[in-house]
Amino acid sequence: MKIVHLWLKFQVLIIQLGDKKFRPYLSAEEIAWAVSRVSEALNEKYNGKQPIVLGVLNGAFMFCSDLVKTLTCGPEIHFVKVSSYEGTASSGNLSRLIGISAELKDRHVILVEDIVDTGLTVDVLRKELAAMGPASVEVATLLFKPDAFRGSQKPDYTGLEIPNDFVVGYGLDYNNLGRELPELYVIND
Ligand code: IMP
Repeated sequence: MKIVHLWLKFQVLIIQLGDKKFRPYLSAEEIAWAVSRVSEALNEKYNGKQPIVLGVLNGAFMFCSDLVKTLTCGPEIHFVKVSSYEGTASSGNLSRLIGISAELKDRHVILVEDIVDTGLTVDVLRKELAAMGPASVEVATLLFKPDAFRGSQKPDYTGLEIPNDFVVGYGLDYNNLGRELPELYVIND
């Protein structure tokens, strides 16, 4: 009886998103801890500086919303999107930042990402932002996959380093599914 009960409980914990199964990875409490690590570091660094927070949609909407609730440095909050487009055959896929509504000149900018994986997207975004003449640009990410990282500069603030496995929930998606989940789930191979 007890074994059946445990088996049933395990089945309930596995979720199906499209053609893939995912198992629980980080609880809402563990995520809240990671968010507070980032906000504490940002509050210390940006005290009195009134930075511009640029949340990268769609993935960072939940992280950014929880993060800014605990920022005491008087941030201005904006959201941007990354548009991927096919470049020339030699340059491959490129990313571009769209939807910037703020004047960034001479301002301290914090780019807020859900996850830094290879780091190639953030590399391109840092360059684009730097060209707009800000006082500084830093990257804050909830999750960082060091084993997948191939970028030129690591995130300046990381909530949690994770292994190179695909995760969903808390804003991150699998084919647009799973963003609404308050916890993080990892692919169940
Ligand atoms: P990059 O490889 O660091 O350029 O990451 C590009 C984008 O891939 C991220 O902003 C995410 O949207 C997405 N991504 C990378 N890893 C994951 C994951 O584990 N789950 C969901 N999305 C991911």
